[in-house]
Amino acid sequence: MRKPIVGISYKTYINSIQETFKMLDQIVRLTGTEKKIEQVIFPSIGTLYPAAQVLKGSNIALGAQNISPEKNGPFTGELSIESVKEIGGRYVEIGHAERKTIFKESQEMINKKTRLTLEEGLFPFLCIGEEEQENNEDLLYNTFNFQILSALNGIHIELIKNVIIAYEPFWAIGKSFAADPEYIHKSHDIIRNVLADLYGKEISKQIRIIYGGSVSKVSTPFIINNNNVDGLFIGRFGHNPKNYNEILRIVMSIKC
Ligand code: PGA
Repeated sequence: MRKPIVGISYKTYINSIQETFKMLDQIVRLTGTEKKIEQVIFPSIGTLYPAAQVLKGSNIALGAQNISPEKNGPFTGELSIESVKEIGGRYVEIGHAERKTIFKESQEMINKKTRLTLEEGLFPFLCIGEEEQENNEDLLYNTFNFQILSALNGIHIELIKNVIIAYEPFWAIGKSFAADPEYIHKSHDIIRNVLADLYGKEISKQIRIIYGGSVSKVSTPFIINNNNVDGLFIGRFGHNPKNYNEILRIVMSIKC
């Protein structure tokens, strides 16, 4: 019922337009016609427009790694959702751990960006996750409940199903290995329960929850093999188009 979705972020690892062209061209040739799964690429911000040109006409969508909390006005240095929409962007990444820790993004800011994204008809990749590994399920529930509730505060219930929750435990980002699959599955179950408690079972069943944090082709089959894991958010280990293609094929073989 939930269409699997895989996102890949280039963060600010791949910033050259020429390199972006080359990589995306390969990805489009390898996976650009797949229809059973949604794919989204979040290029480095300076390459967003040229990336849009390469992805146009393929089944791979474009995403922005961040947006300004308001559509337009005095927000120096921010990327407006108006520009994202104009170039055909469909997804917006919000609240990534790096934005929270390095750029001190608050839950209030995350709420504004999520709300704007949904009201403008785009789809947020709302990142949530605990800072340290936590084996107490009640504490995890409380953390997810707080992050989801504050990010989605005041948003019309009809729009909530368009959110994609990217579960990204801070402690598993930028590491050699992803979190343990059992740990990931338990967290996804808890997130699904939080969503059901907040918005009802019907809506919770429609929301996709994906995992991100040092995902590789080795860990993919174990992570994805669970009903509450609807896809992946890939970083470094998918930057090579061949690896990305392999990860995508594994996800499709299990989910589609
Ligand atoms: P990583 O990035 O796979 O390089 O850890 C994942 C992310 O931050 O989304």
